[in-house]
Amino acid sequence: MKTDINYDQLVDMECRRQESNRKVQMYYRCLIAMATGLSVLLTAVALYSILTPNVFSEYPAPNINLPLPKVEACSDPCKIVLVESIPEGLQFNSSTAHPSIFRAWMSLMDEARISLDVASFYWTLTNKDTHTHEETANQGEAVLQKLAELSGKLSVRIAVNTPQESQPQDDLRLLSDSGADIRKVNMRELTSGVLHTKFWVVDKKHIYIGSANMDWRSLTQVKELGAVVYNCSCLATDLGKIFEAYWFLGESKSIPSPWPVSFSTLYNKDTPLQLPLNNTPSDVYLSSSPPSFCAAGRTPDLQSILSVMEDAQSFIYIAVMNYLPTMEFSHPKRYWADIDTQLRRVAYEKRIKVRLLISCWGSTQPIMFPFLKSLALVYDPKSKLDIQVRLFVVPATPKQKEIPFARVNHNKYMVTDKIAYIGTSNWSGDYFVSTAGSALVVNQTASQSQEPTVQSQLRDVFERDWNSDYSTPLTQHSNLRDFC
Ligand SMILES: *[C@@H]1O[C@H](CO)[C@@H](O)[C@H](O)[C@H]1NC(C)=O
Ligand SMILES: *[C@@H]1O[C@H](CO)[C@@H](O)[C@H](O)[C@H]1NC(C)=O
Ligand SMILES: *[C@@H]1O[C@H](CO)[C@@H](O)[C@H](O)[C@H]1NC(C)=O
Ligand SMILES: *[C@@H]1O[C@H](CO)[C@@H](O)[C@H](O)[C@H]1NC(C)=O
Repeated sequence: MKTDINYDQLVDMECRRQESNRKVQMYYRCLIAMATGLSVLLTAVALYSILTPNVFSEYPAPNINLPLPKVEACSDPCKIVLVESIPEGLQFNSSTAHPSIFRAWMSLMDEARISLDVASFYWTLTNKDTHTHEETANQGEAVLQKLAELSGKLSVRIAVNTPQESQPQDDLRLLSDSGADIRKVNMRELTSGVLHTKFWVVDKKHIYIGSANMDWRSLTQVKELGAVVYNCSCLATDLGKIFEAYWFLGESKSIPSPWPVSFSTLYNKDTPLQLPLNNTPSDVYLSSSPPSFCAAGRTPDLQSILSVMEDAQSFIYIAVMNYLPTMEFSHPKRYWADIDTQLRRVAYEKRIKVRLLISCWGSTQPIMFPFLKSLALVYDPKSKLDIQVRLFVVPATPKQKEIPFARVNHNKYMVTDKIAYIGTSNWSGDYFVSTAGSALVVNQTASQSQEPTVQSQLRDVFERDWNSDYSTPLTQHSNLRDFC
């Protein structure tokens, strides 16, 4: 490539020789020359923007001559463990089982030496909070007690969605009195959403992320799934940046745009963090929503979901509590089909087998069913269309039925033939547009190890649930009342 001459010269040289009678040939040469010139120009622009990353932001570069931050491989001995809450009384005919979220939280608190940061939606860890008298609240109460003890000893910071008047705040008061730092994030004012994220960062070294709220029911009466990653500073530091954004917003009336560089990340869907996870080389990143909370480099949660779907080669299994191609909470009503369209598209274009395991309980909105039935109609073995939907019901004894907002499958994950995605969001538009959430995305396709990958463990969880007696195929005749 002639890189020593500029774009204008190239175009001139090739284009101005009009006298030639081989005009057609010239025309192509001319095009090639222009393309070459253009690529030289683009390369120059790209190099310029890489070398001066702050050129497009209003923050001046601290020092242009500093070496660029390199996307370095991480050598932390990261260990990931899937964790679950299985509601009291649920039994699976399956060997697939994982440590409880309760155990995981207790072990994280045992490990904590310096700091514990918790991103949370709301706090109801005791019977008092929920006006109940349930023995199974004991795990939540133990978590709260231990957290209160730690709050006096090390730095405990809690970011929580600004509670409404009606919401219990005893737990937060206890923790604050015990020494924890608490910031309320007024999502309603910031984005008209809520802070729905649920994760922990311990000593900037271990993390928990998943569906469980800081609610005693999330430990014993609601079905939850999450992941704990131990000894993994690289990843914990990155999740710490998402926490710092919430922490910042706890004291801010507006969302920075752009976010200061300290919130930005090098790790995203295009350049994931490379680390050994359970001794297996892995590509990992954290996504975040809403997009306005994403500093430079961060993949928005929706883009993460769409790209994981795009990347699938044979199947996409999804277990979420709510699935709606709408903005659930917007007035006037709005249709929002980004995820729905992607599922139909990959089912059609790539013949991907799609399975949705959706929850069904007393509070399920009936409007979910026509949309799910519509998805389930995309099924025709002859045309290799294969979308199937099942409803998961957590049964309840009369006594368990009295526990408010319990006995439901609250999982929020997706597993494809390649990727494990563990999130904190319900799947409707609001959660990707205005609500704060985040997800851990793990790619171990390069694994040669004997150890089961996160993807295979998550697939086993999905298959256990999908094939259990607790799930029922959704057909065109299914009547919501018969199920939930
Ligand atoms: C984390 O690392 C420490 C120190 O090397 C080790 O003792 C501990 O077992 C590790 N934790 C896990 C869960 O692997
Ligand atoms: C998920 O959706 C349900 C139903 O709309 C809602 O009540 C709940 O607050 C959402 N968030 C949680 C806790 O998963
Ligand atoms: C997963 O990792 C493999 C190899 O490391 C890579 O080729 C592939 O593009 C990755 N997939 C995704 C969705 O990140
Ligand atoms: C487990 O298997 C037994 C015997 O086949 C069956 O009666 C029961 O319903 C199954 N339970 C679940 C949750 O699948």
